[in-house]
Amino acid sequence: MPTHSIFVLNQCYCSRWKQLVRVALAPVLSLLPLLAPAQTVQMTVQPGNPKLEISRHIQGQFAEHLGRCIYDGIWVEEGLNVPKQGRIRLDVVEALRKIKVPNLRWPGGCFADTYHWRDGVGPTDQRPKMLNMWWGNNLEDNSFGTHEFLELCQLLGTEPYLAANVGSGTVQEMAGWMEYLNSNDDTPLVLERRKNGHPEPFKVSWWGIGNESWGCGGNMTADYYTDVYKRYATFAHNYPASPPLKKIVSGANGDDAHWTETCMKRIPLNQMWGLTLHQYTLPTGNWSGSKGKATGFGEQEYFNTLRNGLRMEAIVTKHAAIMDRYDPEKKVALLVDEWGIWTDVEPGTNPGFLYQQNTLRDALLAGTTLNIFNNHCDRVRGANLAQAINVLQAVILTEKEKMLLTPTYHVFDLYQVHQDAQYLPLQFQSPDYVLGGEKIPALNASASKDKSGAVHISLVNLDPNKALMLETVLPGVSWKTVSGRILTSANVADYNTFDKPATVKLADFKGAKKKGSNLAVTLPARSVVVLELK
Ligand code: AHR
Repeated sequence: MPTHSIFVLNQCYCSRWKQLVRVALAPVLSLLPLLAPAQTVQMTVQPGNPKLEISRHIQGQFAEHLGRCIYDGIWVEEGLNVPKQGRIRLDVVEALRKIKVPNLRWPGGCFADTYHWRDGVGPTDQRPKMLNMWWGNNLEDNSFGTHEFLELCQLLGTEPYLAANVGSGTVQEMAGWMEYLNSNDDTPLVLERRKNGHPEPFKVSWWGIGNESWGCGGNMTADYYTDVYKRYATFAHNYPASPPLKKIVSGANGDDAHWTETCMKRIPLNQMWGLTLHQYTLPTGNWSGSKGKATGFGEQEYFNTLRNGLRMEAIVTKHAAIMDRYDPEKKVALLVDEWGIWTDVEPGTNPGFLYQQNTLRDALLAGTTLNIFNNHCDRVRGANLAQAINVLQAVILTEKEKMLLTPTYHVFDLYQVHQDAQYLPLQFQSPDYVLGGEKIPALNASASKDKSGAVHISLVNLDPNKALMLETVLPGVSWKTVSGRILTSANVADYNTFDKPATVKLADFKGAKKKGSNLAVTLPARSVVVLELK
């Protein structure tokens, strides 16, 4: 046998042996990450400023006329066999009520700058149809309009947040909408509202003046938009029958500092209540090609998504710093009124409908993002996940009569304890989650104290393989018991389907203990945990 063959034979044996060993040890190897010693993190919960609250509005939702969010998600066919009020689906209402949605943004999005509110009031059969030119060229019958949206908000107990049409509308049109909703004088518009079934003013105070005016809202420059804004804001009147308007400036795309700088420089502070920011997370980071998979992704894609999502921290910090220079007293709120993960659509669905599944990964990202907002609550006083139902990072998916709660829904369920609670700053050094030579912080967290004195700590471990140990000191907090709930699953790519709607669900958490006056937590890999200390 030539030496060359012996070498090949040896190599052959060798790799076969390796293969055998690998197969034999597979069950043990798969447990290794779980057996790896958990790293210990020292954490301090600081007393903070008793006057600084985490606004409940950070947990807002967004419902655009897009795909199956409104039509089919909220507003369904009369014949659909689900509980309904009129055509509003009540199982969806009940689920949203449970997470205490503080505000709901409508009708868009890009759609808002094509929407003419008068087409959506009055007898339904007389409303004109319209083409939804941004989203799939869908023909809409305008059966869901202003009264229907405000009825939905009333059912939800939520603050309506309207976006006025600046891109293709007029100042008069917006001013008329405000008068129709908020005045109680006998003007023709108010008489019309009464005739349409609502004698009392609707009292809508949150008003976005345009949406993405740098893009689908008119492709304006920052200078031009600020002039347009001031003109619209001048005619956005307060009415004695309703609370004063909260006028909201259409803000920057991602890290566009120039837009924020121009708005802050050119719009007087007393003419704006808030300034917005839109920041989406794409797994690939690429708007022009594939945005990345919603399900069935590997660890590298998981890592990349979180790395991209964590940019929210730097982006919010950057815009907040610009705002601080013009508004050191932090009067103007920063509202991240569109955020969330944006992936490729579910195969076989209309690409214009932006329907995507939702995994544990997305829930970890939601927990992380809400922690970032909580930790910036001195400036971030509102945010809206895009979007509530059947679109992008939805909290609810529907299919005919069926409905499911996504993993992201459960994060909102967990985090509602922070709504309007006193902010408690945290101090800790996160261990790294390392993959392919890159690293991100494995741990993020935020904390608050509610009106009853209970302290809540929300913890997210992004590392898919390693648990973390936390040793926490809480100077100034007196507490006796700790309880908690956890969201996790076997795999970060796990998700809920209509056939298996509870693959990713909440469970009681038993990994936290009182040790003297300190708190010891074992935080499992790939988990969101919210603790309550009383
Ligand atoms: O949420 C989907 C779209 O994303 C919104 O209509 C638009 O404002 C943004 O570009």
